[in-house]
Amino acid sequence: MNTYRRFPITFKKGNGSKIWDENETEYLDFTSGIATCNLGHVPEKVKQAIEAQLANLWHTSNLFHIKKQEDLGVLLTENSCFDQVFFCNSGAEANEAAIKLVRAYVVSQNKTNPLIVTFHQSFHGRTLATVSATGQEKIKAGFEPLLQGFIHLEFNDFHSLKMLADISPSAVMLELVQGEGGVIPADQKWVDELVKICKQKEILLVVDEVQTGMGRTGSLFAYEQYGIKPDIMTLAKGLGSGFPIGAMLAKGNVGDAFQPGSHGSTFGGNPLASTAGLATLQEMITSTVLENSEKMSSILFAKLRELQENYSFIKAVRGKGLLIGMEIKGDATKAVELALQEKLLILTAGPNVIRFLPPLTVSKNEIEEFEAKFIKVLEQLKED
Ligand SMILES: Cc1ncc(COP(=O)(O)O)c(C=O)c1O
Repeated sequence: MNTYRRFPITFKKGNGSKIWDENETEYLDFTSGIATCNLGHVPEKVKQAIEAQLANLWHTSNLFHIKKQEDLGVLLTENSCFDQVFFCNSGAEANEAAIKLVRAYVVSQNKTNPLIVTFHQSFHGRTLATVSATGQEKIKAGFEPLLQGFIHLEFNDFHSLKMLADISPSAVMLELVQGEGGVIPADQKWVDELVKICKQKEILLVVDEVQTGMGRTGSLFAYEQYGIKPDIMTLAKGLGSGFPIGAMLAKGNVGDAFQPGSHGSTFGGNPLASTAGLATLQEMITSTVLENSEKMSSILFAKLRELQENYSFIKAVRGKGLLIGMEIKGDATKAVELALQEKLLILTAGPNVIRFLPPLTVSKNEIEEFEAKFIKVLEQLKED
């Protein structure tokens, strides 16, 4: 179906930050398949693990124990503030599971208010529940009637927090850096206040880390940098290095609201997907990739801020780790098209924001290569 506006390019091979099209033309990939190939294209350890699993067993269903799924679940809980994990296949499914868990928890507590507060400009997925949760009209338009039970408030706005306290919903769900909505990090003070209200009013805190998770913002999960401990977190994208897998994690008392039969998925956490997730997480924890991403983030931010000084149409450079946005006066899609001509892959995040998502393994040389290509893009944008 005509669901995507695609560029006229087909890629056939990838390695690290590089990707080659059918004519062997090399591109520098600063999109990571939209924050998914966080370890770069075809990371060796993950490839080896998938190859080994391929020879043995692909799928069994969740009617049986799955060793790799259990190992991945344990490793995720050991490296986060959560106790339980449900596996699925995508970010939207992980958020669906989170929304259902909130509702199940409300029922288990004999409470009556299943409302969930989310924020303007948020993006939580394309299923009907996650479209209903999403705070962007363009995503919702034409799909009414939407699911009831969501209220959208202003992001990073203290007045919203007063409303949150008044509404006293069952849960609040947010991205700590809004990705698709324009790369907007949540303010620390605002998050602190939000968490305070959640504690006072017994509101569940759900963080959607589908884009920010798996090292993208410099720590394994973005919530760590805010010094908070949410009740529920969702993951997908970077979790399988490109192999489809999603996860919804919860603290024990909340996760207990799901009992056998409450929720399920045929493929969720199957042996192959869990192998990809486990090898990815092991690599992220045991290698120096997070350290590298932090260093490369400082270098890239410094270069982009320098460019901001030189080009007056650059209004802002913001983000966290290697999830970076550049707001410009003008059309960000034009920048993406011009970059393609320079064999550089970049993204937009809304109409005026250019988004950079290099792999966490990106090198200093590659950032220099990026800079040379991107300056050519900016020069052309300046002429328009
Ligand atoms: C924050 C966030 N949540 C959810 C999703 C949906 O994930 P998926 O496309 O895997 O369903 C995305 C995708 O961009 C996202 O950025």
